[in-house]
Amino acid sequence: VVLVVDFGAQYAQLIARRVREARVYSEIVPSTMPVAEMLARNPKAIILSGGPSSVYEEGAPRLDRALFEAGVPVFGMCYGFQLMATTLGGTVDNTGAREYGRTPLHVSKSGSTLFEGTPAEQSVWMSHGDACSAAPEGFTVTASTDVVPVAAFENDEKKLYGVQYHPEVMHSTHGQQILEHFLYRGAGIEPSWTTGNVIDEQVAAIREQVGDKRAICGLSGGVDSAVAAALVQRAIGDQLTCVYVDHGLMRKGETEQVEKDFVAATGVQLKVVDAQERFLDALAGVTDPEEKRKIIGREFIRVFEQAQAEIIAEASGDQPVEFLVQGTLYPDVVESGGGTGTANIKSHHNVGGLPEDLEFKLIEPLRKLFKDEVRMVGQELGLPEEIVQRQPFPGPGLGIRIVGEVTKERLDLLREADAIAREELTAAGLDRDIWQCPVVLLADVRSVGVQGDGRTYGHPIVLRPVSSEDAMTADWTRMPYDVLARISTRITNEVKDVNRVVLDVTSKPPGTIEWE
Ligand code: XMP
Repeated sequence: VVLVVDFGAQYAQLIARRVREARVYSEIVPSTMPVAEMLARNPKAIILSGGPSSVYEEGAPRLDRALFEAGVPVFGMCYGFQLMATTLGGTVDNTGAREYGRTPLHVSKSGSTLFEGTPAEQSVWMSHGDACSAAPEGFTVTASTDVVPVAAFENDEKKLYGVQYHPEVMHSTHGQQILEHFLYRGAGIEPSWTTGNVIDEQVAAIREQVGDKRAICGLSGGVDSAVAAALVQRAIGDQLTCVYVDHGLMRKGETEQVEKDFVAATGVQLKVVDAQERFLDALAGVTDPEEKRKIIGREFIRVFEQAQAEIIAEASGDQPVEFLVQGTLYPDVVESGGGTGTANIKSHHNVGGLPEDLEFKLIEPLRKLFKDEVRMVGQELGLPEEIVQRQPFPGPGLGIRIVGEVTKERLDLLREADAIAREELTAAGLDRDIWQCPVVLLADVRSVGVQGDGRTYGHPIVLRPVSSEDAMTADWTRMPYDVLARISTRITNEVKDVNRVVLDVTSKPPGTIEWE
């Protein structure tokens, strides 16, 4: 394992992902973890992340010098670089010389372990106030910027490396290469980690954990729960039952996809609960977005509980249902304080909540994986492309993509428009470029149109294509005009009561991705 020491501000997650992209397994540990504990995990290398602090601040995170003396290769980035510099006797000044954003880097020493084979001038992403003016003894300065004399250094003999900038960020043009140079050349690690290892490991562990007991899993139609279920199915077969609640707010073909494609690919036992009427009744007359969300969440829990109670009643006897499968991902684990598994919980998250008095043991086979890795696992498990490469879709479904009251007619109309947009985006090969493209019906808005020589008075449909890395921030996708034109023409021709298609050109912030 390569440990990524987290000094805050979300850089660590990105670094851990980049390390895994280099096919080396990595995990994040907090900077408060004692060095002895880090070393006890036998890391092949340690990376120190950036962070929001200044090394001069009172109470700024520190590191025990022992970390640098254990013979483990260390790579410091940004704050981690400055910490390495100060801890080992270099000089970091609060010069007031700030650098933020894209910065030209001058590589001063060819033949350096990190920079070999990369250009003498490259663009890097900086974000710092303090600057290193003298490297520690025994270190060679390998790069500088117009402002910072020591922007990178290395001590090849001791296997210690550092850069002032953020190589993990896309804007650092040779960042991944430099990270790989550290891992492969500096630390001598063979790139061998694959998601295939995860499947074998998890299948064995789940078999061992579950024995002859039973497990249930709520399917949402999303990637994570599908892959988690498929993995557990591979391990324990018919001892797993999946529950899928069809609330009628799904997109065209989605329920069928779960019912047919997913079952065909996995052979899983599936209980589909048709709860469309129940949801429509509960949503009747409601226009407030938050109220809609609450109603959908509440009804979902009720239906899920009921289905679960039925499964438990059917299964009771020699094989009690003892386990609940959840598609928790590594970022969820890290964000909620990380660390080792919670064994016995009353779960109210992800699946949508469970009865208070039901205790389950959790199976979370994806809790060490990032989203793109989950997709790879799904692919290796033979799940269909349409499930594995699905773009994010909100739990409340189309219910929050109709601005106004949700009715059966409006849902059908939106489903048609959405299906056309998705079809054209896929045909244009844009699925991977676009993070997601909500299609929104402005049900309470009408505008005048002319179609077939007659006047129309119909509703607008909004296209909201966005590009994003994690949905926290997003930009509107600059899509080819001809694709937009095809979508617009088809929607206004083929969808009844729609006579206008508009494009949402707002980034997030200020707009959220969804309209409600
Ligand atoms: P917003 O609209 O907040 O959306 O910018 C960010 C991302 O989250 C998705 N989203 C949801 N996902 N349950 C979900 O599972 C929800 O209630 C929900 N609301 C928004 C949204 O599609 C986008 O990817």
